Amino acid sequence: MRVVIQENYDKMCKWAADYIAARINAHRGDRPFVLGLPTGSSPLGVYAELARMNKAGAVSFKNVVTFNMDEYLGLPREHDQSYWYFMWSNFFDHIDIPKNNVNILDGMAKDPEAECARYEEKIASLGGIDLFLGGIGVDGHLAFNEPFTSLTSRTGVRVLTSDTRIVNSRFFGNDPEKVPAKALSVGIGTVMDAREVLILINGHNKARALAASVEGGVSQKWTCSALQTHPNAIIACDEPACGELTVDTYKYFLDIEKAERL
Ligand code: GLP
Repeated sequence: MRVVIQENYDKMCKWAADYIAARINAHRGDRPFVLGLPTGSSPLGVYAELARMNKAGAVSFKNVVTFNMDEYLGLPREHDQSYWYFMWSNFFDHIDIPKNNVNILDGMAKDPEAECARYEEKIASLGGIDLFLGGIGVDGHLAFNEPFTSLTSRTGVRVLTSDTRIVNSRFFGNDPEKVPAKALSVGIGTVMDAREVLILINGHNKARALAASVEGGVSQKWTCSALQTHPNAIIACDEPACGELTVDTYKYFLDIEKAERL
């Protein structure tokens, strides 16, 4: 696992956007580049930078197919807190991606489990995900895979913990009861099947989750820790998120990244 430590949020986002654009630009072959994407505040700077690069002609999304990580169960697309709404207003409306290349789980599906099975099949039919960009929750959840979700889980319906509903209530008038109780989410196994995984971890409130992801054992309690067994996982983080790492760990990753740049 690589851990790329950047001084602040903006630098972390710039690093991640450059990395994603380079991967898209290097992609060759008949099949499109398949990109997994998250919502949340963490990726906002990455989306803004990728949109800027797209307008400047530095990267195109015409041959990119996207799959979003998750969606609230029971929220229609038009709801301003649906992840569909978030993705179009913060990213897809600002880049040259063809509409049909965007895949987001349908939170209003009549049969949610069938919708999740369809999603897995579609990912497989496109040859799998090349790069999965993600963020994590303060409890280390990846997508909506809360603590104690199986590390081999596939796309399915998830129950949100009280902690997550409290954290996400900032978008629902600070009322945790207004946060949907369930969501559709790719599984940890779905993320782990991607050829590369790039996770953004920023801010003091994610320091415990970063330490658990990197220094703790692989454990269902911190579902993000599954990344330790991925052959190509990168965590891009900022300085404030490093607060709970040991000094040795911190220095070790700085050394490795210095060597990467030589
Ligand atoms: C939500 C999403 C996650 C996201 C997390 C962190 O719970 N389901 O995919 O990573 O929030 O969000 P933020 O980046 O705003 O901290």
